[in-house]
Amino acid sequence: MSQSITLTYQKPSLSGDIKIPGDKSISHRSVMFGSLAKGRTTVSGFLLGEDCLSTIDCFRKLGVHIELDGNDVAIESPGVADWNEPSEILYTGNSGTTTRLMAGILAGSNVFSVMTGDDSIAKRPMQRVTAPLRKMGAKISGREDGKFTPLAIEGAALKAIEYDMPVASAQVKSAILLAALRAEGKTTILESVPTRDHTERMMRQFGLDITSTNRKITLEGGQELKATHVDVPGDISSAAFFLVAAAIAKGSRVTLENVGLNPTRDGIIEVMEKMGADFEIEMEDREAAEPSGTIHVRSSQLTGIVIEGSLIPRLIDEIPVIALLATQAKGKTIIRDAEELKVKETDRITAVVETLKKMGANIEATEDGMIIEGPTQLSGAEVDSYGDHRIGMMASIASLITEGSVVLNNSDCISISYPEFFEHLETISK
Ligand code: S3P
Repeated sequence: MSQSITLTYQKPSLSGDIKIPGDKSISHRSVMFGSLAKGRTTVSGFLLGEDCLSTIDCFRKLGVHIELDGNDVAIESPGVADWNEPSEILYTGNSGTTTRLMAGILAGSNVFSVMTGDDSIAKRPMQRVTAPLRKMGAKISGREDGKFTPLAIEGAALKAIEYDMPVASAQVKSAILLAALRAEGKTTILESVPTRDHTERMMRQFGLDITSTNRKITLEGGQELKATHVDVPGDISSAAFFLVAAAIAKGSRVTLENVGLNPTRDGIIEVMEKMGADFEIEMEDREAAEPSGTIHVRSSQLTGIVIEGSLIPRLIDEIPVIALLATQAKGKTIIRDAEELKVKETDRITAVVETLKKMGANIEATEDGMIIEGPTQLSGAEVDSYGDHRIGMMASIASLITEGSVVLNNSDCISISYPEFFEHLETISK
């Protein structure tokens, strides 16, 4: 059922505190690692978004016992070697992370399984994982020879590879590393641009020996994971919507607590700094696998900048809302080297440009990004989420500063990564 909502705000000054819900990437991985490890793993701060629930569902079908109690998760697993062969198809919903990381996990398991997802997943490229996994000896068949889902995977004995990554993708890197765990020999991955390192950090947390230096990651196969506790920090990709909201809604003053601040994910902080945003960060000073902190942000005058190169993977999921931010900055903002946006939940270059254009922004698509000229007074419009949670949230945040209402069609997809989004928006806009 697709929902349509009308967002009418009288240009409020935003104020208050929001506790940012769990990181999506880390929540997925906590269940994956907890299921691979024999014994009991516990997780706190887990994100109850639909994507992460899809991951839980897949592992339940593999015979892993998983209990949810609010944002706490308890995982009891017989260990990867003793999973059940699933009698049903593993359904990964809208989740690219589930689909691609599971491919790496299942390739070296002892079971035969079939994976498929929704209409968006059916369009997303899978060859980027099936090609390196096949090099490791994985037995994978799939639509158009494994370019797309559904994928059928027969667990097999794998061998280590040395792989030079053709795309900057943490999902591809992670799929290979997860397969490498069960492969014979030492796997080496070379990245041309560093991508989010949550998998490497969590491997260490589960007692594995992994080296990562200078864009080179090495893992010896056959190591045993040790069940443990995972504390998931808040998702900077979710915080991004409220960072931008407070930066562009005049007179705002907002505090965001529990924001994950992993240096491979904090590109939006660098962008806000360069644009002249007014914010302060208090880092949490306890020892943790993933750094986090509190951010205080106030509205301010912003200036356009160029966003490119190695900064792109550090903010890839924030580009829709950064484009909105740029509509309020003085001068030109150029986003380039971001062609990966075309293969996200939807083609995000097209979706962002069409949506903001409807609201009156001065924005043009380019081959690998977009050019935005600001500042522009945005106006209300009827827009669609394109079934993409991040487009839906970007349009909702835009409604805070539009002259007139925004009608957002297909708003329900927002629960994929941020079920409390509208509740939190209400809290600070009252
Ligand atoms: C993710 C990696 C990124 C990101 C996605 C989550 C992950 O995708 O866009 O939302 O959890 O590893 P790519 O690896 O395709 O860049």
